[in-house]
Amino acid sequence: MSLNSKAESAARLSIAPMMDWTDRHCRYLHRLLSRHALLYTEMVTSPALVRGGALHLLDFSPQEHPVALQLGGSDPQELAQAARLGAQAGYDEINLNVGCPSDRVQSGTFGAVLMKDPALVADCVAAMRAAVDVEVTVKCRIGVDDQIPEQVLPDFLNRVSAAGCERFSIHARKAWLQGLSPKENRDIPPLDYDLVLRMRKEFPALHLSVNGGITSLAQAKAFLDAGLDGVMIGRAAYHQPADILCAADAEIFGDGPVTDPIVVARQMLPYIEAHLIAGGKLAQVTRHMLGLFAGRPGARQWRRVLSEGAHLPGAGPDLVEQALSHIGPLADPARAV
Ligand SMILES: Cc1cc2nc3c(=O)[nH]c(=O)nc-3n(C[C@H](O)[C@H](O)[C@H](O)COP(=O)(O)O)c2cc1C
Repeated sequence: MSLNSKAESAARLSIAPMMDWTDRHCRYLHRLLSRHALLYTEMVTSPALVRGGALHLLDFSPQEHPVALQLGGSDPQELAQAARLGAQAGYDEINLNVGCPSDRVQSGTFGAVLMKDPALVADCVAAMRAAVDVEVTVKCRIGVDDQIPEQVLPDFLNRVSAAGCERFSIHARKAWLQGLSPKENRDIPPLDYDLVLRMRKEFPALHLSVNGGITSLAQAKAFLDAGLDGVMIGRAAYHQPADILCAADAEIFGDGPVTDPIVVARQMLPYIEAHLIAGGKLAQVTRHMLGLFAGRPGARQWRRVLSEGAHLPGAGPDLVEQALSHIGPLADPARAV
């Protein structure tokens, strides 16, 4: 049995780690939209935590649970220490990034390049597992560069699970470490969902989530119906959080009502007040709320009022109310169900 069933059951639907996007303010918003979905931090590197002492990177609100810390690194002992710091901070899960292809990350030998060294990933996982009681998970690709995913992925899952990782999120495309930007690496290499589905059959004891290109809750449900244990959604959840998360508790977890984004926008107001009192800026929170009404009458004015006004001196919760006054009823009432 898994060490942490709370995070594991939440992993039926998770919101992907995204640098600069899934910060604590974004996660707080997502948590109001769904009580159950598993939320991931942005990647935090183990050198930043262990050598740089940047413990503020671990700050989160208690309301965010279940929440997973994603670490980047490739030194087993340093990762173990970073995992320990994460567990002490109260994270429900520690995740290792084996999927991010950015240059900065490659230079530190971590992220997707680690797909080439499953033995090292296994060492990292074993060290992290030994250091913490919470579950240690891995987010990976299906391969990199000229690797053959059909060969590489099962070998990777075999070795890394033997080291103590029982749950994986698999971004179902290769990463090209040379020649493609991180952004292109999220779109250009083709998706191979079938391979992930085959891994589900080949590794029945593992918990496997599919990631990449999933843009609706209906698509997520179809993957769960096809036998996958979880679905991880990134960009669609950020850009259209209401479409992905409002009905998630009801439809994916079978527990809870469909949330209303207008109610959630107002529930953000006390959080915003507290953030401003602590010296923060309105835009740091509202930038994650811009997509809240995507596809709905008034969405453009909502975005405009917030993006033009949130940076101005003295901007506060009133601006959110002002932006909300533009939101009309849903054009298609079926979307509210
Ligand atoms: C802005 C941005 C930042 C990202 N940062 C990370 C990261 O820190 N760690 C990681 O594992 N993946 C990162 N990713 C990749 C996502 O987690 C996800 O794997 C990818 O976007 C594919 O899923 P999607 O098609 O649902 O967006 C990032 C993606 C975006 C768009």
